[in-house]
Amino acid sequence: MSKEVQIKCTGAETRDYRTLKTLKTGLKESTKEDLKKLKNAILKYGFSFPEFIWSHEGSEYTIDADRRNEALASLESDGYVIPPVPVCHIHARDEAEAKEKILMCESRFGRLTIDGVLDFSQGLDIDWSDFEFTDFEMPDLQLAFDSRDVDPSETAEAIRIRESLAEKFLLPPFSVLDTRTALWQERKQKWSEVFESYKGRGQEGERGLLFKSLSGGDPSYYKQKTAAEKKIGRQITTEEFERKYYKPSDSIIAKTGTSIFDPVLCEVLYKWFCPMGGTVIDCFAGGSVRGIVAGFCGLSYHGVDLSGTQVEENRSQEAGVTSRPDGYIPPVWYQGDSIEIAQILDGKRADMMLSCPPYADLEVYSNDPRDISNMKYEDFLKVYRAIIKNTTELLVDNSFAVFIVGEVRDKNGFYYGFTKDTIEAFQDAGLLFYNELILVNMAGTLAVRAGGPFMKSRKVGKQHQNVFAFVKGSPQEAAKKIGSVEKSPVILIEEA
Ligand SMILES: C[S@@+](CC[C@H](N)C(=O)[O-])C[C@H]1O[C@@H](n2cnc3c(N)ncnc32)[C@H](O)[C@@H]1O
Repeated sequence: MSKEVQIKCTGAETRDYRTLKTLKTGLKESTKEDLKKLKNAILKYGFSFPEFIWSHEGSEYTIDADRRNEALASLESDGYVIPPVPVCHIHARDEAEAKEKILMCESRFGRLTIDGVLDFSQGLDIDWSDFEFTDFEMPDLQLAFDSRDVDPSETAEAIRIRESLAEKFLLPPFSVLDTRTALWQERKQKWSEVFESYKGRGQEGERGLLFKSLSGGDPSYYKQKTAAEKKIGRQITTEEFERKYYKPSDSIIAKTGTSIFDPVLCEVLYKWFCPMGGTVIDCFAGGSVRGIVAGFCGLSYHGVDLSGTQVEENRSQEAGVTSRPDGYIPPVWYQGDSIEIAQILDGKRADMMLSCPPYADLEVYSNDPRDISNMKYEDFLKVYRAIIKNTTELLVDNSFAVFIVGEVRDKNGFYYGFTKDTIEAFQDAGLLFYNELILVNMAGTLAVRAGGPFMKSRKVGKQHQNVFAFVKGSPQEAAKKIGSVEKSPVILIEEA
């Protein structure tokens, strides 16, 4: 029995595909692999769309199906019978206009995005190897698709144990902190609702407190949002926009000091590593999150930052916190160079150190010569190490110091070794390296951005940061002081 290509559409008329001529010679490049995929698609789905054809001086030309006709010819030589194909007539004055119409057909007036394709195909069982899109690399799409899948090795029992750990410790105390999980995102949503309700002195329509700096401080914010909506063809919420598309402009970095610290990470670290009612010191305070979350957790927070503007901004954001829960302790920020942290904090001692330093010169905060983010790496390291030493001296014995850091590439594309240098700085200050946690970030636009550099030089897209916990003294004694996590000071935001 002969094999036949299935026709799965209807047109105005039908034609033997072999009688149709081309006007498109050389317009589009395609590989043998592309042709193979197209043949497979025709076999799998049938010939699914009528061809557009143009009749001129006794000949008929295809407008949009050169490649499909090539695939049909190849299938025919493989032994398939090709029935007449459905066609529809396109009108054109002359060859020039017919060619313009071909260009119109090829112009798609829009781009596919990985997020868009994933959303669109939700719930469909798709084998991506059947398709070939040119707006992004196909392996990136596969990667994004796979990373959405639940780990199949997770049995119901494993999930139950993990959930009970999460209940006990807020999040399971594992070395991977995954911000992509529903647990994390729900918690983050709760924090953002809390901050949302504490609308400070923002203007009408501005988002509350912590997020004020995003839309309010960045002139490109709404331009970017409109462009993203145009690109994907629908309106999006601010949350989705910030999660998937927003790229902070330089001016927001200048105004707010930087990227915003994750309140869930902050809450978890306080809950795990700080005793009830304890004092936290932060030698690179940056934005207001670590201070305000500490306040919610009933902890005294003392943050030092070189930038007077940042400190002022933090104080005014904190002043906007109107409904403070019982037990809230207002954080205190100091403007100054943390090399002098002992003098600035005037004899204060701390039960925990938590900070997120400049990642070498990744974000430059100011041109103040004392700002370590604008220094050459060698100079940066000298001052960074001294600040770490001076700050750890203020820690009481048997306590934890937690730093959030990430590797940074130099101008030649090589890593400085900033994480290794951070570990050495703490060890040389007399602390012990105790926990290394990996903070997994949302992929965001990484799936689209990572393909190029990877192909060029095998540089992988970085989707994580490092959370290092060091201990001064004994971890057992430190844990005794903290007590059971359930009884730790965190005022759960549900209760606030
Ligand atoms: C990475 S930011 C911290 C921001 C952080 N991601 C956050 O949570 O908001 C680092 C901060 O270090 C500050 N800084 C730089 N050099 C300093 C110094 N010598 N003393 C104190 N702060 C300094 C900068 O002003 C900046 O706000």
